[in-house]
Amino acid sequence: MTVPQDAAACVRQLREEIERHNYLYYVLDKPEIPDAEYDKLFRELERLEAGNPLLATPDSPTRRVGASPLAEFSQLTHRVPMLSLNNAFEEEEVAAFDRRVREGLGVEMVEYAVDPKFDGLAISLIYENGILVQGATRGDGYTGEDVTTNLRTIKAIPLRLHTANPPKLLEVRGEVLILKADFEKLNRQQREKGDKEFANPRNAAAGSLRQLDPRITATRPLTFFAYGLGSVDEVDLPRKLSAVMDYLESLRVPVCRERRVVQGVDGLLDYYRMIGARRDGLPYDIDGVVYKVNNLSWQEQLGFVSRAPRFAIAHKFPAQEAMTELLGIDVQVGRTGTLTPVARLKPVFVGGVTVTNATLHNQDEIDRKDVRIGDTVIVRRAGDVIPEVVRVLPERRQPGTQAYNLLEAVRHVCPVCGSHVIRLPDEVAARCSGGLFCPAQRKRSLLHFASRTAMDIEGLGDKLMEQLVDRDLVSTPADLYTLGLKDLDSLDRMTPADLYELGMNTLASLDRMAEKSAANVLDAIKASKKTTLARFIYALGIRNVGEATAKDLARHFGGLDVLMAADEEELQQVPDVGPVVAQSIVQFFAEPHNRGVIERLRAVGVHWVEGERAPRPMASAISGKTFVLTGTLPSLTRDEAKEKIEALGGKVSGSVSKKTDYVVAGVEAGSKLAKAQELGVVVLDENNLIELLGK
Ligand code: IVH
Repeated sequence: MTVPQDAAACVRQLREEIERHNYLYYVLDKPEIPDAEYDKLFRELERLEAGNPLLATPDSPTRRVGASPLAEFSQLTHRVPMLSLNNAFEEEEVAAFDRRVREGLGVEMVEYAVDPKFDGLAISLIYENGILVQGATRGDGYTGEDVTTNLRTIKAIPLRLHTANPPKLLEVRGEVLILKADFEKLNRQQREKGDKEFANPRNAAAGSLRQLDPRITATRPLTFFAYGLGSVDEVDLPRKLSAVMDYLESLRVPVCRERRVVQGVDGLLDYYRMIGARRDGLPYDIDGVVYKVNNLSWQEQLGFVSRAPRFAIAHKFPAQEAMTELLGIDVQVGRTGTLTPVARLKPVFVGGVTVTNATLHNQDEIDRKDVRIGDTVIVRRAGDVIPEVVRVLPERRQPGTQAYNLLEAVRHVCPVCGSHVIRLPDEVAARCSGGLFCPAQRKRSLLHFASRTAMDIEGLGDKLMEQLVDRDLVSTPADLYTLGLKDLDSLDRMTPADLYELGMNTLASLDRMAEKSAANVLDAIKASKKTTLARFIYALGIRNVGEATAKDLARHFGGLDVLMAADEEELQQVPDVGPVVAQSIVQFFAEPHNRGVIERLRAVGVHWVEGERAPRPMASAISGKTFVLTGTLPSLTRDEAKEKIEALGGKVSGSVSKKTDYVVAGVEAGSKLAKAQELGVVVLDENNLIELLGK
């Protein structure tokens, strides 16, 4: 049987084309063509191969998924053992590692190749003359399992190395894993099918790789990152690990973008901090970073002690998940009355701190996870996110526990004020109906009113507000400006000095309130009287009106009375104000109580320049763009960054969505960075931001 020349050429070209698109899609995450176009190429290749069976070689992209399940995996002996790494947890241990390396080599300074420590499964891939012939798990380090058919289904793993001049033998080592976003999707699918969810991406990857039926593995979103080499033959390799990794990259073997070359122990620790700050935002789970002497001759010179190399070490991050016991469930009432179930935990050290409370979010989440008092639970604390209960360990559940129902637990009344609790059919949250009658809502509304980005009353924190509200000294924001005044009608007869004295006496009667701090608070309250319309609108705490909307409203209406008189239609003329926000605003101002408070605030002297419009931003490269700030920036404070962005017509929002144009991330950036990466939003650091603002 012969194969037509043009068919062979076509097949070769199609395979190259398909492999390139695989690489663009699965490794670089930058597809060039729509899926339908890819499918067309793929079907064309299948058609040609079907007509010319001789052309259907195993390295064809059409042959990734084997047809029949295995009875068991066979054992394989690694040509070069797959060893483990020693761990460091503290900076001193890293310094000691670097010292041992320098002393072992007799040098002053060492260059290291560093990369994240992937939390997946170690594997080995053997390429003979550029073709993938074998893949194995690490096993006990000396023998592992032959999982070739499963590894072939992973599209990020090349079946053929991208080179005209392949080495006779090249063993690539690395880690198979599932990206966080793919894991969420996989678990969603499991849930919909009624199948068991996976505990974490690592377990999901392990379970998927150890399927005897490669057709199942093929449906799992596994991916791969190389971190080094095993045995090699007939290839001139560079003498530095970093250059070897670049070589692997040129062969289209996936290597991670976060790898770096650093100098000395300072370089190591800087890298640790940098990756630690970005940990939550990385697309994959990691549990630390790995430091390796970059010079390969030096690696050989240093050699091994028992089962770990002397030339490398893993520097671990504090665990983000820990197991503990759920002692009880408290219910907190938020500013708008939302009831939030909060887990009271047996104290546990996680993410670098001791955690005693964690959010359970809402009833739906409690139901989904089937969380019960007395359960053993997994708590997660990642970056700047509030600790949360992620799941329970049902196998540890004691008999006799009961499903938890928040409404029943509070007997349908607010645990703080006793008002009715309602759960609207289209809302997940249960809400206290008490409004500002509820001390919890009042406290939180008052704290919001006084907060830095609202009226900016420094020194009026949690503890002080607690006392002011509990002793009935303050019930509306206006009371802050007449502290101690019982009879409002007497306000006219009071001089500012009288009011000040009354305020001082009132504050002095509270716990832990020295004269100096009392005076500071009174001064801050007084200073806050001079404000801006935007701040004032935001401070009112109208539902769905955040800082950005308050500014838009101030800019559009220029005065409070016009705003208060506006109907829903007029409100929707304001950029970004839709029907929901418009309705909240109208409802707020329709409430006589709210109008009364506003009137009194004006009467006690809270003022802004009426008719003053927020400064019109200049037209600029960023006008109309939405930014989200997260983490600590090296030199700008968040407020400074915000001011600069807004001055040029950009907007700053608190949460990342598809509408976000840029996320500016600093140290300890957390879930917002992750979200940005998930949605493909452009991420800037401070320098990029400053550059953008300069344009
Ligand atoms: S280098 C001589 N680099 O960690 C050993 N290992 O504890 C060289 N691992 O099973 C290993 N990420 O699978 C290296 N960036 C990385 C890694 C990494 C994860 C795993 C590896 C091994 C374990 C060792």
